[in-house]
Amino acid sequence: MEGKEEEIREKVISRCKYLKGPVKTAVVPRLLIVYPWTQRFFDNFGNLSSATAIIGNPKVRAHGKKVLTSFGEAVKNLDNIKTTFSKLSELHCEKLHVDPENFRLLGDILIIVLAAHFGRDFNPACQATWQKLVGVVAHALAYKYH
Ligand code: HEM
Repeated sequence: MEGKEEEIREKVISRCKYLKGPVKTAVVPRLLIVYPWTQRFFDNFGNLSSATAIIGNPKVRAHGKKVLTSFGEAVKNLDNIKTTFSKLSELHCEKLHVDPENFRLLGDILIIVLAAHFGRDFNPACQATWQKLVGVVAHALAYKYH
């Protein structure tokens, strides 16, 4: 089992490179479009009145990059992910009051964006690795919730 875990970890780390450019900027806008109730957390971000407005919104874009960069950092610190995300977990819980179910939604959106972007390269083995990763990230972000 340990060997298997190690293998999964190596695959995930090598796939960090997937979190680039278009993938990085596509995830948060898609979250806001597909699950419109998530928009309420971003009422200070300006115009979110349509899919076009959301995709073109520079604040959404900048925030999306921030979130995905932080996601990438987590991947590099898998052994220590709860510590890595401890401050962020507190922020999302105590200050932002984001329901942790939304972390899972964001993970699902990331998987769909990767699949759309990489097509057949995003094969079942690759998806399995990412599926595991998004689960670990959602769990770590929810860790400080009480
Ligand atoms: C802020 C990461 C999911 C709502 C942030 C920040 C980071 C981050 C790095 C910036 C913190 C700072 O500036 O100090 C993540 C990660 C997520 C995630 C890694 C999941 C993988 C979500 C979800 C929502 C959300 C699902 C809501 C639906 C927010 C809000 C802010 C924030 C409202 C503050 C934005 C602002 O006013 O600038 N998040 N986040 N996050 N996040 Fe998350």
